[in-house]
Amino acid sequence: MEGFNHKDLLGMGQLSVRDIELILDTAESMKEVSQRDIKKVPTLRGKSIVNFFYEPSTRTRASFELAAKRLSADTISLSSSGSSMTKGETLMDTAKNLQAMNPDLIVLRHSSSGAPHMLAPEIKAGIINAGDGTNEHPTQALLDLFTIREKKGRLQGLKVAIIGDIKHSRVARSNIIGLKKMGADVTISGPPTMIPVNAESLGVDVINNPAEAIKDKDVIMVLRIQLERQSKLLFPTAREYSTYFGINRETLKNAKEDAIVMHPGPINRGVELASDVADGPFSVILEQVTNGVAVRMALLYLLVGGHKSGNID
Ligand code: CP
Repeated sequence: MEGFNHKDLLGMGQLSVRDIELILDTAESMKEVSQRDIKKVPTLRGKSIVNFFYEPSTRTRASFELAAKRLSADTISLSSSGSSMTKGETLMDTAKNLQAMNPDLIVLRHSSSGAPHMLAPEIKAGIINAGDGTNEHPTQALLDLFTIREKKGRLQGLKVAIIGDIKHSRVARSNIIGLKKMGADVTISGPPTMIPVNAESLGVDVINNPAEAIKDKDVIMVLRIQLERQSKLLFPTAREYSTYFGINRETLKNAKEDAIVMHPGPINRGVELASDVADGPFSVILEQVTNGVAVRMALLYLLVGGHKSGNID
C-alpha cells in the first residue's frame, strides 16, 4: 500500500489531498471489517495504544477504543480524574512516564489548544490529537469528510454550510481546512459574536442568517454552542438562540431536497437543532458515529505502520 509518512496526526493542515484520500479509502475497508459478524482482524497485534482523555468524551473515546480492539491492538485508557495529574504531575511528565512503557501511539484529548503539539516532538510514540481546546479535532473532520463522500460520492465542488458557534469550535476549524483542501465551498453562519473576526481569511463565506446560509447547500453541518469555552454568554438565552439560529423543519424548507444534516455531537436538542431534524430523514448524525470507528481504525493502521507489513485481512 502507498506510504503514509506521518508519525503524528495533530491537525488537518499537515495532510495532503493524497493523504486524506488514502485515509478515506482505507476507512472504506475498515468499515467492511466492522460490518462482519466477527469484527476483529489481527493487523495491529502486539501494538499498544494509550487513550488519554483529559476532557470528557463519549464518541471519540469509545470509537478509538473500539477501533484499536477491532485491529487487535492492546489498549489502556486514562482520564484526568483517574491519573496522577490530580496530584500535580504535569502533562509532559505524564506523557514521558507513559512513553517509558513503550506504547506505539498516544491518543490525547485536552482542554488546552496546542497540548498534543507540545508532546509530539518530545515523545517517541505517535500522537493523535483527539481534540485540543478550540484549536482542532482532525479525526472528527476526517469522519465528516468520509460521511459526506459516502453520501454524495465526492467532495470536490460541494457546497457546505457550517452553522453555530464557529469561533469556539475545533470541529469547525478542522472541517474548514479539510473541506477547502478537498475542493468544497464553505459558508459559515451564526450570531456575529460566534463568528471569528478573521473569518474571511479562512477562505469561507459568512452569512449570519442560517435560513439564508443553507439555501442551495448540499451539506448542513450544525454545531453545539460551546458553553464551556465561552467566558461569558454570547447570546441572551438558549430560547432566543433556538428562535433565531436553531435549525428546525421550518428552516430546512430552504434546503436542497437531497441535502444532508450533520452534527458532531453532543447535541443540545431544542437549542441548535430540533429533534424532528436530528431524528429526521435529512439527518446522517448516527452514520457519522458509525463511520468514526472506521476512520479511526484507518488512522491507527496508517500511523502505526500496519500498511507496511501487508493487508488489513
Ligand atoms: N464529536 C465529539 O468529539 O464527541 P465527544 O466529545 O463525545 O467525543
